[in-house]
Amino acid sequence: MHSDGHARRITLAASDQTFECGAGDVMLRSALRAGIAFPYECNVGACGNCKFELVEGEVDVVWPEAPGWSAKDRERRRYLGCQSAPRGDCTIRMRPSAHYAPKHAPRHVSGTLTARRAITHDIEEFCFDLSGDMPFEPGQYALLTLPGVAGPRAYSMSNIADAAGQPRELHFQIRRVPNGQGTGVLFDALEPGARIDIDGPYGMAYLRRDVKRDILCIAGGSGLAPMISIARGVAAEPALDDVKLHFLYGGRTPRDVCGRDMLEALPGWAERLHFQAAVSDVTPDSETVWDGHVGFVHTVAESLFGERLRDMEIYFAGPPAMGAAIQRALVALKVPFEQVHFDQFY
Ligand SMILES: Cc1cc2nc3c(=O)[nH]c(=O)nc-3n(C[C@H](O)[C@H](O)[C@H](O)COP(=O)(O)OP(=O)(O)OC[C@H]3O[C@@H](n4cnc5c(N)ncnc54)[C@H](O)[C@@H]3O)c2cc1C
Ligand code: FES
Repeated sequence: MHSDGHARRITLAASDQTFECGAGDVMLRSALRAGIAFPYECNVGACGNCKFELVEGEVDVVWPEAPGWSAKDRERRRYLGCQSAPRGDCTIRMRPSAHYAPKHAPRHVSGTLTARRAITHDIEEFCFDLSGDMPFEPGQYALLTLPGVAGPRAYSMSNIADAAGQPRELHFQIRRVPNGQGTGVLFDALEPGARIDIDGPYGMAYLRRDVKRDILCIAGGSGLAPMISIARGVAAEPALDDVKLHFLYGGRTPRDVCGRDMLEALPGWAERLHFQAAVSDVTPDSETVWDGHVGFVHTVAESLFGERLRDMEIYFAGPPAMGAAIQRALVALKVPFEQVHFDQFY
């Protein structure tokens, strides 16, 4: 990565648009900071949606083993925007798409860990106080730089901005991943008082406040946080007073199920905010008695709502396999693509 402290000027080929990439920053995030609608999804090298062609200049690849970057890409001078730091001024080819225009320009803030609390046996909430404002929409995520961990990790906020719209706190709900580097540091090394760099907001699966359709939020496993943020956003938005929100949480076993208490605390609970849960694995020795739905969330959503899904705004978050199954089910039901919002968790 360039280290002389000077910003690089990046030009978009076939247009006169340019932007600056600051020292230590990557192509994608500096473009978004400048308000350019650079297509992306994960920000962590996995999805491949942020590819661009390098027409002139040179870049350092931050994580050459990123799963979203292939040998063929390398041959064709195609790079991942989220993993490329320009060595000097560059010209790149990529097609901006209005869908990706940032609602809030991403920025770096310093976050001090103030509290941790257990949500389930493997999910904890981490609360950070911020050194400066980081406005965001319900459902968006931020990148956390963790001590000793290569590359930032993406985590979705579970809270919403306060009434003034200027959040000085971010809450994350994080699932411990066995042998995971980032979650290893978060769960085993980060104590209240620790300060980390937080960069955000990112993500397109945010609450559409101008759409008055009933909402279905589907959260699987670690996908709790952005769906809780969306439910909180709906409860706090007067323009959505007539909108009903159905929340469906999917876990593997009964002890994984969570989120209900967070919805119960919201105005409109049981009147227009509803919670249901499904587990995919109920074995006779399960520790908790289970009287909810059994099955994968996509089949449970299908049997609960059927063709009504076509008239709903649908948000979902969770592991890629769950996301793929939900997408297949929604396509089969002919749910319009514009009503479906997700950022996959890689
Ligand atoms: C948009 C988005 C939102 C997410 N929101 C949540 C959430 O709210 N809650 C939650 O629990 N999880 C969330 N995740 C998953 C989370 O980001 C991590 O993947 C997960 O916690 C495992 O991280 P780990 O470091 O413990 O595991 P690891 O297996 O060590 O790391 C996996 C992740 O780190 C990246 N990575 C690995 N090595 C490198 C490297 N050398 N350089 C750069 N990157 C590297 C991978 O692309 C992958 O994203 C989200 C993911 C995405 C993409
Ligand atoms: S690989 Fe860059 S945004 Fe997913």
